[in-house]
Amino acid sequence: MKILIVYDSSSGNTEKMAHLISHGVMKEGVEAIIRKVDDANVDELLHVDGLILGSPVYYGLPSNKIKKFLDDSAKYHGNLEGKIGGAFVSSGGTHTGAETALIAILEALLIHGMIIQGSSSWNHYGAVSVGSPEDEKTRDTCIKQGQNIASLIKTLKTVKV
Ligand SMILES: Cc1cc2nc3c(=O)[nH]c(=O)nc-3n(C[C@H](O)[C@H](O)[C@H](O)COP(=O)(O)O)c2cc1C
Repeated sequence: MKILIVYDSSSGNTEKMAHLISHGVMKEGVEAIIRKVDDANVDELLHVDGLILGSPVYYGLPSNKIKKFLDDSAKYHGNLEGKIGGAFVSSGGTHTGAETALIAILEALLIHGMIIQGSSSWNHYGAVSVGSPEDEKTRDTCIKQGQNIASLIKTLKTVKV
């Protein structure tokens, strides 16, 4: 069982979130492959059970590199049905576009037919960090998101077998 975590990051905030999320994934015994978007290749999507995309918030949207990765993923449109998806973002402020950026990523993953689990407590659409994820609550949210997605993959794999 493998999860691909693809992130963009200019000043390191989203990158730190990616590592926390991968920590959560691995806590559940699932392999986490982390790729900076510049080094990511959509071909890898065929060989993983889930994709978690992370982006800085740029004008309330994901970065252009994350959008390009999504556009490139059209190469495998129809082949990603039933895989697990998730998103996380880092913003400069609070109530400044984080949720719209998250939803924009999730919309694309839904169009691929991916399965997305929300959260009933805190950061409903995916982890958000205002700046660097230094405080305990934000760090825990990232780790928990990784755990939840890995746990869902394990559950669905068990059902499919
Ligand atoms: C071009 C640009 C646009 C941005 N737009 C927003 C925005 O709309 N809302 C916001 O909260 N932060 C915005 N920011 C701030 C970044 O989202 C924030 O600094 C983020 O933590 C950077 O993540 P990184 O360290 O992974 O690059 C913007 C930054 C840049 C460079």
